[in-house]
Amino acid sequence: MISPQSVHETLGRHQLADGLPFVMDLERSHGSWIYDSRTGEEFLDFFTCFASWAIGYNHPGMKDEKFRAELELAALNKPANSDLYTSQMADFVETFATRVTPEGFPHHFWIDGGALAVENALKVAFDWKAQKVGIDQVNDGNDLVILHFNAAFHGRSGYTMSLTNTVPDKIALFPKFDWPRVHNPAIEFGPDGNICNDIEAEEARACKEIEAAFEKYPNRIAGILIETMQGEGGDNHFRPEFFQALRKYADKHEALLMFDEVQVGFFGSGTPWMWQQYGVAPDVVAFGKKTQVCGIYASNRVDEVPENVFVRSSRINSTWGANLVDMVRAKRIIEIILDEKLHENAAERGKQFVQGLRDLAKERSGISNVRGVGTLVAFTCENNASRDALLSNLMDNKILALASGEESVRFRMSMVVTADEINLALERIGACLPTGASA
Ligand SMILES: Cc1ncc(COP(=O)(O)O)c(C=O)c1O
Repeated sequence: MISPQSVHETLGRHQLADGLPFVMDLERSHGSWIYDSRTGEEFLDFFTCFASWAIGYNHPGMKDEKFRAELELAALNKPANSDLYTSQMADFVETFATRVTPEGFPHHFWIDGGALAVENALKVAFDWKAQKVGIDQVNDGNDLVILHFNAAFHGRSGYTMSLTNTVPDKIALFPKFDWPRVHNPAIEFGPDGNICNDIEAEEARACKEIEAAFEKYPNRIAGILIETMQGEGGDNHFRPEFFQALRKYADKHEALLMFDEVQVGFFGSGTPWMWQQYGVAPDVVAFGKKTQVCGIYASNRVDEVPENVFVRSSRINSTWGANLVDMVRAKRIIEIILDEKLHENAAERGKQFVQGLRDLAKERSGISNVRGVGTLVAFTCENNASRDALLSNLMDNKILALASGEESVRFRMSMVVTADEINLALERIGACLPTGASA
Protein backbone atom coordinates (compact mmCIF):
# COMPACT_ATOMS: atom_id res chain seq x y z
CA MET A 1 0.00 0.00 0.00
CA ILE A 2 1.15 3.57 -0.68
CA SER A 3 2.89 4.95 2.41
CA PRO A 4 1.18 7.78 4.32
CA GLN A 5 4.10 10.07 3.42
CA SER A 6 3.34 9.62 -0.29
CA VAL A 7 -0.46 9.88 -0.22
CA HIS A 8 -0.82 13.56 -1.13
CA GLU A 9 1.92 13.44 -3.72
CA THR A 10 0.42 10.32 -5.35
CA LEU A 11 -3.07 11.76 -5.44
CA GLY A 12 -1.77 15.10 -6.70
CA ARG A 13 -0.25 13.41 -9.72
CA HIS A 14 -3.69 12.24 -10.89
CA GLN A 15 -6.31 14.57 -9.43
CA LEU A 16 -6.87 17.80 -7.56
CA ALA A 17 -5.65 16.97 -4.07
CA ASP A 18 -6.14 20.16 -2.07
CA GLY A 19 -7.90 18.53 0.89
CA LEU A 20 -6.81 18.34 4.51
CA PRO A 21 -3.03 18.20 4.94
CA PHE A 22 -2.91 14.96 6.96
CA VAL A 23 -3.67 11.30 6.21
CA MET A 24 -6.39 9.55 8.16
CA ASP A 25 -5.46 6.26 9.78
CA LEU A 26 -8.59 4.15 9.52
CA GLU A 27 -7.51 1.77 12.28
CA ARG A 28 -6.15 4.18 14.85
CA SER A 29 -8.73 6.96 14.53
CA HIS A 30 -11.21 6.63 17.38
CA GLY A 31 -14.28 8.41 18.70
CA SER A 32 -13.86 12.15 18.13
CA TRP A 33 -10.22 11.77 17.14
CA ILE A 34 -8.62 11.43 13.71
CA TYR A 35 -5.15 9.90 13.85
CA ASP A 36 -2.70 11.27 11.28
CA SER A 37 -0.76 8.31 9.98
CA ARG A 38 2.00 10.59 8.68
CA THR A 39 2.95 12.13 12.02
CA GLY A 40 1.12 10.16 14.70
CA GLU A 41 -0.66 13.33 15.80
CA GLU A 42 -4.35 13.35 16.67
CA PHE A 43 -6.93 15.94 15.61
CA LEU A 44 -10.08 16.66 17.58
CA ASP A 45 -12.70 16.11 14.91
CA PHE A 46 -15.39 18.80 15.09
CA PHE A 47 -15.90 18.49 11.31
CA THR A 48 -16.95 14.81 11.06
CA CYS A 49 -16.57 14.53 7.30
CA PHE A 50 -18.86 17.51 6.67
CA ALA A 51 -21.38 16.36 9.30
CA SER A 52 -21.50 12.85 7.86
CA TRP A 53 -20.01 10.62 10.52
CA ALA A 54 -22.45 10.25 13.40
CA ILE A 55 -20.98 7.83 15.88
CA GLY A 56 -17.24 8.51 16.07
CA TYR A 57 -14.53 6.45 14.43
CA ASN A 58 -14.26 2.74 15.22
CA HIS A 59 -17.21 2.72 17.58
CA PRO A 60 -17.04 -0.52 19.63
CA GLY A 61 -20.53 -1.42 18.36
CA MET A 62 -19.10 -1.74 14.86
CA LYS A 63 -17.04 -4.73 16.01
CA ASP A 64 -20.17 -6.87 16.31
CA GLU A 65 -19.34 -10.10 14.45
CA LYS A 66 -22.72 -10.66 12.84
CA PHE A 67 -22.65 -7.13 11.49
CA ARG A 68 -19.09 -7.59 10.19
CA ALA A 69 -20.10 -10.76 8.34
CA GLU A 70 -23.06 -9.00 6.70
CA LEU A 71 -20.93 -6.02 5.79
CA GLU A 72 -18.39 -8.27 4.12
CA LEU A 73 -21.06 -10.09 2.15
CA ALA A 74 -22.63 -6.82 1.01
CA ALA A 75 -19.21 -5.44 0.07
CA LEU A 76 -18.31 -8.46 -2.05
CA ASN A 77 -21.42 -8.20 -4.19
CA LYS A 78 -23.17 -5.06 -5.34
CA PRO A 79 -26.80 -5.66 -6.29
CA ALA A 80 -28.84 -3.10 -8.22
CA ASN A 81 -31.10 -2.42 -5.23
CA SER A 82 -33.84 -0.77 -7.26
CA ASP A 83 -34.78 -4.06 -8.87
CA LEU A 84 -32.82 -6.86 -7.25
CA TYR A 85 -33.82 -7.27 -3.63
CA THR A 86 -32.01 -8.87 -0.67
CA SER A 87 -32.86 -9.62 2.96
CA GLN A 88 -30.14 -7.16 3.93
CA MET A 89 -31.88 -4.41 2.02
CA ALA A 90 -35.25 -5.26 3.57
CA ASP A 91 -33.64 -5.24 7.05
CA PHE A 92 -32.31 -1.76 6.46
CA VAL A 93 -35.52 -0.36 4.95
CA GLU A 94 -37.63 -1.79 7.77
CA THR A 95 -35.27 -0.39 10.41
CA PHE A 96 -35.11 3.07 8.84
CA ALA A 97 -38.83 3.30 8.11
CA THR A 98 -39.95 2.14 11.55
CA ARG A 99 -37.23 3.60 13.79
CA VAL A 100 -36.08 6.79 12.05
CA THR A 101 -38.79 8.07 9.70
CA PRO A 102 -41.52 9.87 11.69
CA GLU A 103 -45.16 8.77 11.57
CA GLY A 104 -47.06 9.96 8.54
CA PHE A 105 -44.38 9.49 5.89
CA PRO A 106 -45.11 6.20 4.12
CA HIS A 107 -43.01 6.77 1.00
CA HIS A 108 -39.24 6.28 0.67
CA PHE A 109 -36.70 6.51 -2.12
CA TRP A 110 -32.98 5.69 -1.84
CA ILE A 111 -30.08 7.04 -3.89
CA ASP A 112 -26.39 7.88 -3.49
CA GLY A 113 -25.52 11.47 -2.59
CA GLY A 114 -27.30 14.35 -0.90
CA ALA A 115 -27.64 16.45 -4.05
CA LEU A 116 -29.39 13.59 -5.82
CA ALA A 117 -31.66 13.17 -2.82
CA VAL A 118 -32.67 16.81 -3.23
CA GLU A 119 -33.02 16.42 -7.01
CA ASN A 120 -35.43 13.58 -6.51
CA ALA A 121 -37.43 15.61 -4.01
CA LEU A 122 -37.76 18.22 -6.77
CA LYS A 123 -38.87 15.55 -9.21
CA VAL A 124 -41.56 14.42 -6.77
CA ALA A 125 -42.81 18.00 -6.66
CA PHE A 126 -42.64 18.62 -10.42
CA ASP A 127 -44.48 15.41 -11.23
CA TRP A 128 -47.12 16.11 -8.57
CA LYS A 129 -47.72 19.70 -9.58
CA ALA A 130 -47.76 18.95 -13.31
CA GLN A 131 -50.42 16.29 -12.80
CA LYS A 132 -52.42 18.58 -10.50
CA VAL A 133 -52.66 21.44 -12.95
CA GLY A 134 -52.48 19.37 -16.15
CA ILE A 135 -49.32 18.82 -18.17
CA ASP A 136 -50.65 20.85 -21.07
CA GLN A 137 -50.99 23.83 -18.70
CA VAL A 138 -47.34 23.64 -17.61
CA ASN A 139 -45.76 22.92 -20.98
CA ASP A 140 -44.91 19.30 -20.09
CA GLY A 141 -43.37 20.52 -16.82
CA ASN A 142 -41.02 23.01 -18.46
CA ASP A 143 -42.74 25.99 -16.85
CA LEU A 144 -42.52 24.67 -13.31
CA VAL A 145 -40.20 26.27 -10.75
CA ILE A 146 -38.96 25.75 -7.19
CA LEU A 147 -39.11 28.56 -4.66
CA HIS A 148 -35.92 28.63 -2.58
CA PHE A 149 -33.84 30.91 -0.39
CA ASN A 150 -30.84 33.19 -0.35
CA ALA A 151 -27.73 31.51 1.06
CA ALA A 152 -29.13 28.06 0.31
CA PHE A 153 -26.87 25.09 -0.31
CA HIS A 154 -28.56 22.06 -1.82
CA GLY A 155 -25.66 20.43 -3.64
CA ARG A 156 -23.81 20.61 -6.91
CA SER A 157 -25.77 18.46 -9.36
CA GLY A 158 -27.80 19.61 -12.36
CA TYR A 159 -31.02 20.86 -10.80
CA THR A 160 -29.40 21.88 -7.52
CA MET A 161 -27.06 24.26 -9.41
CA SER A 162 -30.11 26.45 -9.80
CA LEU A 163 -30.77 26.48 -6.05
CA THR A 164 -27.36 26.61 -4.39
CA ASN A 165 -26.17 30.19 -3.90
CA THR A 166 -23.42 30.31 -1.33
CA VAL A 167 -19.86 30.55 -2.64
CA PRO A 168 -20.15 32.01 -6.20
CA ASP A 169 -17.34 29.82 -7.52
CA LYS A 170 -19.40 26.70 -6.85
CA ILE A 171 -22.04 27.66 -9.40
CA ALA A 172 -20.35 30.07 -11.81
CA LEU A 173 -20.24 29.19 -15.52
CA PHE A 174 -22.70 26.30 -15.25
CA PRO A 175 -26.12 26.76 -16.92
CA LYS A 176 -28.88 27.33 -14.39
CA PHE A 177 -32.65 27.78 -14.28
CA ASP A 178 -33.94 31.16 -13.19
CA TRP A 179 -36.11 29.99 -10.29
CA PRO A 180 -37.57 32.30 -7.63
CA ARG A 181 -35.14 32.99 -4.79
CA VAL A 182 -36.26 34.88 -1.71
CA HIS A 183 -34.85 36.43 1.44
CA ASN A 184 -33.76 34.08 4.24
CA PRO A 185 -34.91 35.53 7.57
CA ALA A 186 -32.06 34.31 9.78
CA ILE A 187 -32.08 34.79 13.53
CA GLU A 188 -29.18 36.63 15.14
CA PHE A 189 -28.50 35.51 18.68
CA GLY A 190 -27.37 37.90 21.44
CA PRO A 191 -24.84 37.12 24.19
CA ASP A 192 -27.36 35.10 26.20
CA GLY A 193 -29.00 33.38 23.28
CA ASN A 194 -31.87 35.85 22.95
CA ILE A 195 -33.00 36.88 19.47
CA CYS A 196 -31.34 40.25 18.91
CA ASN A 197 -32.34 41.26 15.38
CA ASP A 198 -35.75 42.46 14.20
CA ILE A 199 -36.79 38.96 13.18
CA GLU A 200 -40.39 39.92 12.49
CA ALA A 201 -39.22 42.49 9.94
CA GLU A 202 -36.93 39.88 8.41
CA GLU A 203 -39.79 37.39 8.10
CA ALA A 204 -42.14 40.04 6.75
CA ARG A 205 -39.59 40.79 4.01
CA ALA A 206 -39.35 37.09 3.15
CA CYS A 207 -43.13 36.67 3.10
CA LYS A 208 -43.53 39.68 0.84
CA GLU A 209 -41.05 38.18 -1.61
CA ILE A 210 -42.76 34.78 -1.41
CA GLU A 211 -46.13 36.36 -2.17
CA ALA A 212 -44.62 38.24 -5.10
CA ALA A 213 -43.18 34.96 -6.43
CA PHE A 214 -46.55 33.20 -6.22
CA GLU A 215 -48.05 36.11 -8.13
CA LYS A 216 -45.31 36.05 -10.76
CA TYR A 217 -45.57 32.27 -11.22
CA PRO A 218 -49.28 31.49 -10.80
CA ASN A 219 -49.77 27.73 -10.51
CA ARG A 220 -46.13 27.15 -11.49
CA ILE A 221 -44.38 26.84 -8.12
CA ALA A 222 -44.17 23.09 -7.58
CA GLY A 223 -42.41 23.28 -4.24
CA ILE A 224 -40.92 25.43 -1.50
CA LEU A 225 -37.50 24.08 -0.58
CA ILE A 226 -35.60 25.11 2.54
CA GLU A 227 -32.82 23.73 4.72
CA THR A 228 -34.23 23.43 8.23
CA MET A 229 -31.03 25.22 9.23
CA GLN A 230 -28.79 26.61 6.48
CA GLY A 231 -25.38 25.00 7.05
CA GLU A 232 -22.93 26.06 4.39
CA GLY A 233 -24.77 29.38 3.93
CA GLY A 234 -23.95 30.53 7.47
CA ASP A 235 -25.59 28.23 10.03
CA ASN A 236 -28.73 30.32 9.69
CA HIS A 237 -31.56 29.38 12.05
CA PHE A 238 -35.21 30.21 11.42
CA ARG A 239 -38.13 30.62 13.82
CA PRO A 240 -40.96 28.06 14.03
CA GLU A 241 -43.27 30.94 13.09
CA PHE A 242 -41.52 31.16 9.74
CA PHE A 243 -41.91 27.45 9.05
CA GLN A 244 -45.59 27.82 9.92
CA ALA A 245 -45.88 30.60 7.36
CA LEU A 246 -44.21 28.39 4.74
CA ARG A 247 -46.64 25.59 5.55
CA LYS A 248 -49.55 27.95 4.92
CA TYR A 249 -48.17 29.16 1.60
CA ALA A 250 -47.55 25.58 0.47
CA ASP A 251 -51.11 24.57 1.36
CA LYS A 252 -52.75 27.63 -0.10
CA HIS A 253 -50.90 27.47 -3.43
CA GLU A 254 -50.72 23.70 -3.80
CA ALA A 255 -46.95 23.47 -3.60
CA LEU A 256 -45.04 20.77 -1.74
CA LEU A 257 -43.16 21.93 1.35
CA MET A 258 -39.75 20.28 1.19
CA PHE A 259 -37.09 20.32 3.89
CA ASP A 260 -33.47 19.62 3.04
CA GLU A 261 -32.12 17.80 6.09
CA VAL A 262 -29.05 16.40 4.35
CA GLN A 263 -26.79 18.22 6.80
CA VAL A 264 -28.92 18.59 9.92
CA GLY A 265 -31.04 15.42 9.90
CA PHE A 266 -30.57 11.99 11.46
CA PHE A 267 -30.26 12.63 15.22
CA GLY A 268 -27.44 15.19 15.08
CA SER A 269 -29.70 17.99 16.32
CA GLY A 270 -30.77 15.89 19.31
CA THR A 271 -33.99 14.69 17.63
CA PRO A 272 -34.21 12.27 14.69
CA TRP A 273 -35.03 15.22 12.41
CA MET A 274 -34.44 18.85 13.15
CA TRP A 275 -37.85 19.89 11.82
CA GLN A 276 -39.48 17.96 14.66
CA GLN A 277 -38.23 20.70 17.00
CA TYR A 278 -40.34 23.28 15.14
CA GLY A 279 -43.62 21.40 15.09
CA VAL A 280 -44.24 22.04 11.38
CA ALA A 281 -44.41 18.92 9.25
CA PRO A 282 -43.18 19.10 5.65
CA ASP A 283 -44.41 17.02 2.71
CA VAL A 284 -41.01 15.75 1.58
CA VAL A 285 -37.67 15.49 3.40
CA ALA A 286 -34.32 14.96 1.67
CA PHE A 287 -31.63 13.26 3.75
CA GLY A 288 -28.03 12.15 3.34
CA LYS A 289 -24.63 12.39 5.01
CA LYS A 290 -25.06 10.70 8.44
CA THR A 291 -27.74 8.41 7.03
CA GLN A 292 -25.07 6.86 4.75
CA VAL A 293 -27.85 5.95 2.34
CA CYS A 294 -29.26 9.17 0.91
CA GLY A 295 -32.83 9.67 -0.22
CA ILE A 296 -36.22 11.12 0.57
CA TYR A 297 -39.30 10.33 2.60
CA ALA A 298 -42.68 11.78 1.72
CA SER A 299 -46.11 12.17 3.29
CA ASN A 300 -49.51 11.14 2.00
CA ARG A 301 -49.92 14.57 0.42
CA VAL A 302 -48.23 13.17 -2.68
CA ASP A 303 -51.11 10.64 -2.90
CA GLU A 304 -53.48 13.48 -3.80
CA VAL A 305 -52.13 12.58 -7.23
CA PRO A 306 -52.81 8.84 -7.53
CA GLU A 307 -50.22 8.18 -10.25
CA ASN A 308 -47.37 9.83 -8.35
CA VAL A 309 -43.69 8.89 -8.63
CA PHE A 310 -43.93 6.46 -5.71
CA VAL A 311 -46.58 4.49 -7.57
CA ARG A 312 -45.56 4.65 -11.21
CA SER A 313 -42.49 2.66 -12.09
CA SER A 314 -39.28 4.33 -13.23
CA ARG A 315 -40.35 7.95 -12.80
CA ILE A 316 -37.51 8.25 -10.29
CA ASN A 317 -34.81 5.60 -10.22
CA SER A 318 -31.12 4.78 -10.55
CA THR A 319 -29.19 1.61 -11.35
CA TRP A 320 -27.78 0.96 -7.89
CA GLY A 321 -30.70 2.38 -5.92
CA ALA A 322 -28.13 3.46 -3.32
CA ASN A 323 -25.50 1.07 -2.00
CA LEU A 324 -26.04 -2.14 -0.06
CA VAL A 325 -22.86 -1.68 2.02
CA ASP A 326 -24.19 1.69 3.13
CA MET A 327 -27.52 0.05 3.97
CA VAL A 328 -25.92 -2.58 6.19
CA ARG A 329 -23.74 0.05 7.87
CA ALA A 330 -26.66 2.48 8.27
CA LYS A 331 -28.78 -0.16 9.99
CA ARG A 332 -26.01 -0.81 12.51
CA ILE A 333 -25.54 2.93 13.09
CA ILE A 334 -29.27 3.33 13.77
CA GLU A 335 -29.13 0.48 16.31
CA ILE A 336 -26.09 1.98 18.05
CA ILE A 337 -27.59 5.48 18.22
CA LEU A 338 -30.89 4.26 19.63
CA ASP A 339 -29.42 1.63 21.99
CA GLU A 340 -26.96 4.14 23.44
CA LYS A 341 -29.34 7.11 23.20
CA LEU A 342 -26.59 9.04 21.44
CA HIS A 343 -29.04 11.74 20.34
CA GLU A 344 -29.59 12.55 24.01
CA ASN A 345 -25.84 12.89 24.46
CA ALA A 346 -25.73 15.09 21.36
CA ALA A 347 -28.42 17.38 22.80
CA GLU A 348 -26.62 17.70 26.17
CA ARG A 349 -23.16 18.22 24.72
CA GLY A 350 -24.57 20.81 22.33
CA LYS A 351 -25.96 22.81 25.27
CA GLN A 352 -22.61 22.55 27.06
CA PHE A 353 -20.70 23.72 23.99
CA VAL A 354 -23.04 26.61 23.18
CA GLN A 355 -22.93 27.81 26.80
CA GLY A 356 -19.12 27.51 26.87
CA LEU A 357 -18.80 29.47 23.63
CA ARG A 358 -21.19 32.16 24.92
CA ASP A 359 -19.00 32.49 28.02
CA LEU A 360 -15.91 32.72 25.78
CA ALA A 361 -17.59 35.32 23.58
CA LYS A 362 -18.14 37.49 26.68
CA GLU A 363 -14.59 37.10 27.97
CA ARG A 364 -12.74 37.41 24.71
CA SER A 365 -13.09 39.46 21.57
CA GLY A 366 -13.66 38.29 18.04
CA ILE A 367 -16.75 36.09 18.14
CA SER A 368 -20.49 36.68 18.50
CA ASN A 369 -23.88 35.18 17.55
CA VAL A 370 -23.12 31.82 19.15
CA ARG A 371 -25.83 29.41 18.06
CA GLY A 372 -26.65 25.77 17.63
CA VAL A 373 -28.38 22.61 18.76
CA GLY A 374 -26.87 19.20 19.40
CA THR A 375 -23.83 18.54 17.25
CA LEU A 376 -24.52 21.57 15.00
CA VAL A 377 -22.90 24.63 16.54
CA ALA A 378 -21.50 27.88 15.11
CA PHE A 379 -20.40 31.43 15.85
CA THR A 380 -19.68 34.52 13.78
CA CYS A 381 -16.29 36.22 13.50
CA GLU A 382 -15.64 39.91 12.86
CA ASN A 383 -15.05 39.49 9.15
CA ASN A 384 -14.09 37.03 6.45
CA ALA A 385 -10.33 37.43 6.97
CA SER A 386 -10.49 36.93 10.74
CA ARG A 387 -12.70 33.87 10.22
CA ASP A 388 -10.24 32.30 7.80
CA ALA A 389 -7.33 33.10 10.11
CA LEU A 390 -9.20 31.51 13.03
CA LEU A 391 -9.90 28.33 11.06
CA SER A 392 -6.24 28.00 10.21
CA ASN A 393 -5.30 28.66 13.86
CA LEU A 394 -7.75 26.00 14.98
CA MET A 395 -6.12 23.52 12.63
CA ASP A 396 -2.70 24.41 14.12
CA ASN A 397 -4.25 23.75 17.52
CA LYS A 398 -5.41 20.33 16.28
CA ILE A 399 -9.12 20.98 16.18
CA LEU A 400 -11.00 20.61 12.93
CA ALA A 401 -13.89 22.93 12.08
CA LEU A 402 -15.55 24.30 8.95
CA ALA A 403 -16.27 27.64 7.34
CA SER A 404 -19.91 28.66 7.11
CA GLY A 405 -21.16 31.64 5.12
CA GLU A 406 -18.88 34.67 4.86
CA GLU A 407 -17.89 35.09 8.47
CA SER A 408 -18.91 32.07 10.51
CA VAL A 409 -17.20 28.98 11.83
CA ARG A 410 -19.32 25.87 12.20
CA PHE A 411 -18.60 22.81 14.29
CA ARG A 412 -20.03 19.41 13.48
CA MET A 413 -19.32 17.01 16.32
CA SER A 414 -19.91 13.30 16.42
CA MET A 415 -22.70 12.14 18.66
CA VAL A 416 -20.28 10.32 20.98
CA VAL A 417 -18.43 13.52 21.88
CA THR A 418 -17.75 13.66 25.64
CA ALA A 419 -18.02 16.52 28.14
CA ASP A 420 -14.21 16.48 28.47
CA GLU A 421 -13.77 16.78 24.73
CA ILE A 422 -16.14 19.76 24.65
CA ASN A 423 -14.07 21.39 27.41
CA LEU A 424 -10.87 20.66 25.51
CA ALA A 425 -12.37 22.18 22.36
CA LEU A 426 -13.33 25.31 24.32
CA GLU A 427 -9.76 25.53 25.63
CA ARG A 428 -8.30 25.19 22.14
CA ILE A 429 -10.75 27.68 20.64
CA GLY A 430 -10.06 30.11 23.51
CA ALA A 431 -6.33 29.82 22.81
CA CYS A 432 -6.97 31.05 19.27
CA LEU A 433 -9.07 34.10 20.18
CA PRO A 434 -7.69 37.56 20.86
CA THR A 435 -7.50 38.32 24.60
CA GLY A 436 -9.77 40.92 26.19
CA ALA A 437 -13.50 41.40 25.88
CA SER A 438 -14.97 43.10 22.81
CA ALA A 439 -15.36 46.85 23.15
C1 LIG B 1 -28.11 20.97 3.09
C2 LIG B 1 -27.37 20.17 2.07
N1 LIG B 1 -28.02 19.70 1.00
C3 LIG B 1 -27.41 18.96 0.05
C4 LIG B 1 -26.06 18.70 0.14
C5 LIG B 1 -25.39 17.90 -0.94
O1 LIG B 1 -24.97 16.67 -0.46
P1 LIG B 1 -23.85 15.85 -1.26
O2 LIG B 1 -22.58 16.63 -1.09
O3 LIG B 1 -23.82 14.52 -0.56
O4 LIG B 1 -24.29 15.76 -2.67
C6 LIG B 1 -25.33 19.18 1.23
C7 LIG B 1 -23.88 18.93 1.34
O5 LIG B 1 -23.17 19.56 2.08
C8 LIG B 1 -25.99 19.95 2.22
O6 LIG B 1 -25.35 20.45 3.27
